[in-house]
Amino acid sequence: MHASDNPANTSLINKRILLGVSGSIAAYKAAELVRRLKEGGADVRVVLSQGGAEFVTPLTFQALSGNPVHTELLDVEAEAAMGHIELARWADAIVVAPASANFISRLAQGRADDLLSAICLATGSPVAIAPAMNQQMWANAATQKNLKTLNDRGVAQFGPAEGDQACGETGLGRMLEADDLAQNTAGLFETGSLAGLTVMVTAGPTQEAIDPVRYLSNRSSGKMGYAIARAAAEAGAKTLLVSGPTSLTTPARVQRIDIESAQQMLDAVLGQVGDCNIFISAAAVADYRVAEPAAQKIKKQQEKLTLQLVRNPDVLSEVAAIKNGPFTVGFAAETENLEAHARKKLQNKKLDMIAANLVGEGKAFDQEDNELLVLTNTEQHRLPKTSKEKLARQLISIVADSIHSVRPD
Ligand code: CTP
Repeated sequence: MHASDNPANTSLINKRILLGVSGSIAAYKAAELVRRLKEGGADVRVVLSQGGAEFVTPLTFQALSGNPVHTELLDVEAEAAMGHIELARWADAIVVAPASANFISRLAQGRADDLLSAICLATGSPVAIAPAMNQQMWANAATQKNLKTLNDRGVAQFGPAEGDQACGETGLGRMLEADDLAQNTAGLFETGSLAGLTVMVTAGPTQEAIDPVRYLSNRSSGKMGYAIARAAAEAGAKTLLVSGPTSLTTPARVQRIDIESAQQMLDAVLGQVGDCNIFISAAAVADYRVAEPAAQKIKKQQEKLTLQLVRNPDVLSEVAAIKNGPFTVGFAAETENLEAHARKKLQNKKLDMIAANLVGEGKAFDQEDNELLVLTNTEQHRLPKTSKEKLARQLISIVADSIHSVRPD
C-alpha cells in the first residue's frame, strides 16, 4: 500500500526527509522510495555516499526528488549552496536506505569524514537506517555490535527482511521494500497525540485603525503561530487559527478566521473558545489602540499630531480567566531576564504554560528560526535554536504530554 492511499496516514505531509543512499545493490530501490515519500507529501533531498553513486546516478535522484543531489563534503560550491550543517538542520528526519555494513560501521563510530556521516552526526532530528547486505555480513558480530550501539543511541532500524539476496544466498539482510520504508518513515513522526481535541491558535499582528487608510501595528510575521497551527493539525487536533493580517497560506486542515484589530480578535476567540481544549496565544496583539479613529482620512494640516491611545483587552488573560476553560499557553517576548519575566507572566496571567523567547537585535520577529524556553508551574524545557516548524512540533508535543498528564483519559 502506498503511504498516500491511507487517508489516516498524513504524517509525511510537509515533512522534510533527507534520504541517504549508501553503497549497496539495493540502492535501486531507493529510487522507488523517493517516489513513495513524495506521494505521501514529503519534501525529499537525497545525499549519495561515494558507494551509493556507484550504483545509481545523482541524475536519477535529482529527477525523482526535484531537488539537487548532494554528494561531497568538501566541495566549496555545494557547501556554499547548502552545506552539511544546513542539510542536517533542514531535515525533519534522516533515513539511510540502503544502509550498507560499511555505512553502519561508520555511523557507529561517529565518523564525519564524508557528507552523509557528517550530516547524521550534526542533526538533532530522528535518524533511521534500512540495512541491506549479505546475510553473513549481517550476522557478523561486528555488524551486530554496531547495530546495538546505534540502537542505544536512538537510531531507528527498518528491517532487514529475509529472502533471496542479490549475491545468490538466502537469509536476513534484504532491504525492506519502498512501501514499507515509506510507512516506517511516516511512523517516525508523532501523530494522533491531540486526536479528538480542539485547539485554537492566535497568530500574526493586529492592526489598530488610525483613520480609514492608516493603522498601528507591529513586525510580527505570524510564522510561529501558523507553524503551531500546522503542528496541532498534524497531531490530529481540530484546529482553529485566529489570524491577524499576514501573507502566509493557511496550513492544511486548519480553519482560519481573519481579524484585524485586538477587539475583533477577542470577539472571534470568545465566540468559539468554549469548544476548545487548548488555547495557544502566539499573536502579537497590540497593547493599545487609537481612542477615537478618525472617520475620514487625516489631512496633514497641523505641524504636530497627537494620537490618544487606550489599552486593548488582553485576549490571553480573558481566556485564562474562563472557569473550566481550555489549557492555556501564552507567549512572552522579552529583551532581557527571560526566565524571570516569563515566570511572572505565567503567574500573573494564570496560564498553564508559557513559551518565552528573546526578541530584538534580529531575533525571533520575521525570522525563520527561533529558540524557546517553555515553562509550567512544575516543568521547564529549553528548546534550542531551530526552525519555527520544528519548534512548533516540539511545543505541541510538550502540550500533548502536559494535557494528558493533567487530564488522563
Ligand atoms: N496577549 C494577548 N492580548 C493582548 C496582549 C498580549 O492575548 N492584548 C498575549 C500574547 O498573544 C502573548 C502574551 O499575551 O501570548 C504576551 O503577554 P504580554 O504580557 O502582553 O507580553 P508583552 O506584550 O511582552 O507585555 P509586556 O509589554 O508587559 O512585557
